[in-house]
Amino acid sequence: MKLLVTGGAGFIGSAFIRLVLGGDAAAEVLNFDALTYAGNLENLEPVADHAGYRFVKANLCDVAAVDEAVASYAPDVIVHFAAESHVDRSILSPKPVIDTNFTGTFHLLDAARRRGVQKFIHVSTDEVYGSIDPPADADEDFPLRPSSPYSASKAGSDMLALSYFTTYKLPVIVTRASNNYGPYQFPEKLIPLMIANALDDEPLPIYGDGQQVRDWLYVDDHCRAIQSLLEKGQPGEIYNIGGNRALPNLDVVRMILAATGKTESLLRSVEDRPGHDRRYALSSAKIQRTTGWTPAMDFEQGLARTVDWCRANTSWVERVRSGAYRDYYDSNYSRREEELGRVTAGSKR
Ligand code: NAD
Ligand code: TYD
Repeated sequence: MKLLVTGGAGFIGSAFIRLVLGGDAAAEVLNFDALTYAGNLENLEPVADHAGYRFVKANLCDVAAVDEAVASYAPDVIVHFAAESHVDRSILSPKPVIDTNFTGTFHLLDAARRRGVQKFIHVSTDEVYGSIDPPADADEDFPLRPSSPYSASKAGSDMLALSYFTTYKLPVIVTRASNNYGPYQFPEKLIPLMIANALDDEPLPIYGDGQQVRDWLYVDDHCRAIQSLLEKGQPGEIYNIGGNRALPNLDVVRMILAATGKTESLLRSVEDRPGHDRRYALSSAKIQRTTGWTPAMDFEQGLARTVDWCRANTSWVERVRSGAYRDYYDSNYSRREEELGRVTAGSKR
């Protein structure tokens, strides 16, 4: 089976390619990635010499490049990870998020429609449901109430993808995963940012009261779920993929302090995120029923593994935290510092 994977140089896409190529000498993958700030070919070093691996540096916003890749590679299957994936960046600068996540997805769907594929997996997020009041867990019929430009762009692209099934019979599957964590995650998201700051004795910026709840899914569990849907998922269907481990942010950060051997003196309460969703919680009963998939990684073990990976890969972490990352860090966190008049992370540099 020939797979075209978009966003394969990012966090989850690279884990997916490592999983697919690592387990099968005959597998064939074309990685279509623009190498934005979040794309890093170092993430693919373990499989870069695999005979079936190809890479094309191209942008989903470039309709001709998308058409050319789909037509010339002629994939059996498309797995679409590429996105502007960070809520805070989408608040600071929404346009690239809409361009890539909505218009870029449209270009890919339309190229797939013209060429024909056996399956098109559109990788989406639980954030499309918005904040979920306890005690409910969102199933796939839960209303969509996205709060940020990021989640709204994903909800829009989910609708577009499903319309291509209804209208053109393109065999689209939409997946909605909860918060991922694990090795190679860009340190703008909660867990890798807190680990990197803690290891460097920098402050850990907690938005608001830190009682927002997220459900944590180990990245390899997510990738196995997608593999199971490639085999057994039904076109036209949506599948939630949750980690079955919902925790308040502050509890997660305290676990990171314990795992890195640091103290609570590093914690800093900073200005909250505008439109911050209070709680995400998912029911994954449908994928479990359909494919038998369940999340395997225990959160404490997955977190320890992620901390160990960061300790063993300090040069990777330091490289991605240099240059433009510092500009983003300052624009996101110094604003919060000014508003509150408190010390925030990043102020050390
Ligand atoms: P990431 O930010 O780590 O990687 C995104 C990748 O897409 C990068 O390699 C980047 O270069 C590429 N990309 C971005 N814009 C592009 C464009 N215009 N053309 C081509 N390539 C482009 O993201 P991630 O965390 O790996 O997330 C992957 C997917 O999973 C996204 O669709 C995201 O919405 C979804 N998702 C992520 C999470 C999470 O916790 N990270 C949870 C649920 C769903
Ligand atoms: P994040 O990793 O950005 O994922 P998402 O917003 O997509 O769920 O954030 C996870 C949670 O952590 C979210 O409630 C915001 C919070 N958070 C902080 O408190 N401080 C931070 O510096 C970051 C990046 C996130």
